[in-house]
Amino acid sequence: MCGIVGYAGNRDALSIIIGGLESLEYRGYDSAGVSVLDGGTIDTTRATGKLSELKRVLAAKKRDGSAPLGIGHTRWATHGRPTETNAHPHSAGRVSLIHNGIIENYIPLRAMLEERGCVFLSETDTEVAAHLLNTLLADGLKPLDAMRAMCAQVKGSYAFLAIDAHHPDRVLVAKNSTPIIIGRGEGENLIASDIPAVLQHTRRIVVLEDGDLAEVTASSVYVENRGAEVVRKEETIAWDPITAQKGGFKHFMLKEIHDQSRVVGDTLRGRMSEHDGSVKLPELELLRERAHSLKRIVMVACGTAWHACLEGKFFIEEFAGIPCEVDYASEFRYRSGLIDNDTLVIAVSQSGETLDTLGALECASGKGLTLAICNVVGASICRKADMVLYTHAGPEISVASTKAFTTQLVALQLLALFLAEARSTMPAAARRNVLRAMVELPAALSQTIKIDSEVAAVAKKFFQARDFLFLGRGRCYPIALEGALKLKEISYIHAEGYPAGEMKHGPIALIDESMPVVMVLQREKPLFEKTLSNLKEVEARGARVIVVTDATDEDMQGIVTQGMIRVPFVSHELSPILLNIPLQLLAYHVAVLNGTDVDLPRNLAKSVTVE
Ligand code: AGP
Repeated sequence: MCGIVGYAGNRDALSIIIGGLESLEYRGYDSAGVSVLDGGTIDTTRATGKLSELKRVLAAKKRDGSAPLGIGHTRWATHGRPTETNAHPHSAGRVSLIHNGIIENYIPLRAMLEERGCVFLSETDTEVAAHLLNTLLADGLKPLDAMRAMCAQVKGSYAFLAIDAHHPDRVLVAKNSTPIIIGRGEGENLIASDIPAVLQHTRRIVVLEDGDLAEVTASSVYVENRGAEVVRKEETIAWDPITAQKGGFKHFMLKEIHDQSRVVGDTLRGRMSEHDGSVKLPELELLRERAHSLKRIVMVACGTAWHACLEGKFFIEEFAGIPCEVDYASEFRYRSGLIDNDTLVIAVSQSGETLDTLGALECASGKGLTLAICNVVGASICRKADMVLYTHAGPEISVASTKAFTTQLVALQLLALFLAEARSTMPAAARRNVLRAMVELPAALSQTIKIDSEVAAVAKKFFQARDFLFLGRGRCYPIALEGALKLKEISYIHAEGYPAGEMKHGPIALIDESMPVVMVLQREKPLFEKTLSNLKEVEARGARVIVVTDATDEDMQGIVTQGMIRVPFVSHELSPILLNIPLQLLAYHVAVLNGTDVDLPRNLAKSVTVE
């Protein structure tokens, strides 16, 4: 989720671009850069670290006058470490280009371009687009024709901005799956990945759509799609800058809950070959070599990431046939762990900086094979592990982890399929079925989020309760734990997750009318009927039950509850991911009704870097 800004006008492009990048600071970044074009000369400056580092380098540079056109970028790395060489903009001949997204076929494109004599300097997928565009321009194509031809060869998600030294009056734009807006000004136009970057200059916004190409000058905006000119509606934005950073949502948490369909698509992109049922994870080649000799997997994490590991255990044991243990990182690091050469230790962490998880990984390093599943390229945990599998959730601002959790589950399912293929424990047909369901997941998540108003209504009935119980069995048990954690950490209400089958061994003594019980109920047999029995046990003792389920009306006939929230069914393996969405929304709405600070709850930190 990089920050992108472009400018074409009659003022100093550099200061406008830097100001725009600053307002995108919430999108997180590990490096930044800017290219300005004055007459026929492109001047590019890049720096690793925060935007202040780029500003320091710019201040030290001699600049004669101001350039009226340019592009700027803050990078949230997905391919290639956060270094100056990997920072955007990327230059190639007469072109400077920035990109937000993932180019799936950059490896074959890079090989083809190297054949044509292109010299690559970075590890990124983006540099391929810069060279390809430059080659097409050098072949004599007009700027927009060259941009169109470049995009026709690129597979994946992209928001491209490019400038051509031979045409210093225009910014070339292309959009697919990754957001781009255009801010219309007087004698100037701005392009950005998000509205906050342009708000101080204009409130007139045009939102580009997938497949759109645009040529933006100081006085004109031409947009086409599939070779034909299109007119995109201009809107006037009334938001203040902070609301704009939240995409119009009241809190980052709600924005990130709604972001999950897109970021799951980003995490899956380029990693699945549905046709042959295989998973493409070249970063795990060492694991493929060792897969047959593995005897045991130990997963270590904290908090929400630990819940993801509990769910991942189901995927890995069922698909890959390897015994999987899940341990709190803070516990594992003070036990021997019995890690040997045939053990794979998987550390799961959104931030990659959680000290307990880093400590657990250090205990395993050198004894067994280690793998990090992380959302931040180049984080401490990634540098410590033998291999890294990145989630592509983008920066998660809200302390309560939502989209990171969902993409961790997706990454764990990809890992389980990868191991199943490497160990030949799952027929290709079965793997294809699972992948086919995963392809449907982003759309199912978009569909699921539409239950928000139903969940808000349930929250209104229960937000004053002082205790909640979350129950689930099998795959639903980790989701019950996660739902309880979300509620307690942002609404400060005591909430406990428990295996539904365990209720009768003590906790059922807690049940009375004052105790709402959230039952996570999956249609998968035989646990569906077993969980229904547990539901009746707690109802018989006066509990007010809220059911979250993938079951149908028919399945639920005769069951009366205080709240019934349904999610679409895609597959048994994926239902827990969808069943978790209503629990995220329940925690959110209960917290808002209780007036707590949803994004910055008391006593908590986004990344716990202390013991
Ligand atoms: C989750 O909502 C919490 N904020 C917390 O439990 C978090 O999951 C935990 O601290 C682990 O963080 P990590 O994924 O960055 O390692």
